[in-house]
Amino acid sequence: MILVTGGTGLVGSHLLLGLCKKGEDIKATYRNRDKIKTVEKIFSYYSDDPSALLSKIQWVKADVSDLSSLEIAFKGVKKVYHAAALVSFDPKDDKKLLKTNIEGTANIVNLCIANLVEKLCFVSSIAALGSSVNGEMVTEENEWTNTNTTIYGISKHYAEMEVWKASQEGLQVVIVNPGVIIAPGFWKSSSGSFFRYSAKEPKYYLPSGTGFVAVNDVTSAMIQLMDGIIANQRYILVSENWTYKNFFDLLAKGLDKRPPQRVLKPWMLQVFWRLDWIRSNVFGKRRRLSKPVAALFGTTEIYDNSKLKKDLNFEYEDLGESIRTCCAIFLREFGD
Ligand SMILES: NC(=O)c1ccc[n+]([C@@H]2O[C@H](COP(=O)([O-])OP(=O)(O)OC[C@H]3O[C@@H](n4cnc5c(N)ncnc54)[C@H](OP(=O)(O)O)[C@@H]3O)[C@@H](O)[C@H]2O)c1
Repeated sequence: MILVTGGTGLVGSHLLLGLCKKGEDIKATYRNRDKIKTVEKIFSYYSDDPSALLSKIQWVKADVSDLSSLEIAFKGVKKVYHAAALVSFDPKDDKKLLKTNIEGTANIVNLCIANLVEKLCFVSSIAALGSSVNGEMVTEENEWTNTNTTIYGISKHYAEMEVWKASQEGLQVVIVNPGVIIAPGFWKSSSGSFFRYSAKEPKYYLPSGTGFVAVNDVTSAMIQLMDGIIANQRYILVSENWTYKNFFDLLAKGLDKRPPQRVLKPWMLQVFWRLDWIRSNVFGKRRRLSKPVAALFGTTEIYDNSKLKKDLNFEYEDLGESIRTCCAIFLREFGD
């Protein structure tokens, strides 16, 4: 039996699809039953009979901060994919981020050890790799520093530390560090918000660049790593190192919109995060741009994706094609 935490999320739902198609016995955690409808919507993008696929999953209500609910979820489990996490860049969520992502992961690894789980796959992030040194490519060996990072990045780094500690106690682990994950359906969060932004024909694009990867490459790499003999390794999952200009141009093309023409200069990001702070403190709105995120958006990182290619003979799908597919789904749901 396989357990997937965060089964209702962007990564979790796509992972469940891959595991269901393989005919695995699966349990998945949820917190709010309504979110299971989102999983069915995701399945409908890839299958003519999404409810048949969905019926193969045993859903267990569990919060990663609540040990008693997790203990029930772990009954009879041999492999665990830990994809549950809080993804937020609003400083108001800082405490919750650290609790969910670090303490939550500690709970998961402790239960893996207590229940003699055979292998754990932990979904980390490129945010947990730290910045490059002397402009070199970031690799899996990159040395972590707290500079130019966010509380989210810090939470993912210390969550990884929990996983490495468990590996020293004998748990077999693999960690994946995906870049910005391109996926359909989650239009209000993560990369989904870039699709909504592009649909409005914005004037500005971000001045930097980062690593991008299609969700099906992420889940396929995770499943291959869990099925194989590789253990106690981490892998960067990035298919393309692109500038945001390139990314927004592709989004605009896929959505048949005008691409942004002007670069958002780093000094503008500095002004915008201050305005966003005022807007949040005066009107109680959620933060959209904090100081650390503005700094990150001003910095380009290049990620070395050769380790996964070499160890698994992994071939990434055409990311431009994945973006076109997501754009077509977006247009079907929201029209022109
Ligand atoms: N999306 C990206 O571009 C990206 C890039 C790199 C790495 N990642 C990593 O990928 C993993 C999954 O992210 P995602 O994009 O799928 O995020 P997501 O769509 O926000 O999904 C997060 C999942 O975690 C669950 N969750 C949150 N807090 C929880 C808690 N306290 N207890 C139990 N479950 C909880 C959510 O449940 P609800 O549905 O109930 O909220 C949801 O199922 C994360 O570890 C993230 O760091 C994502």
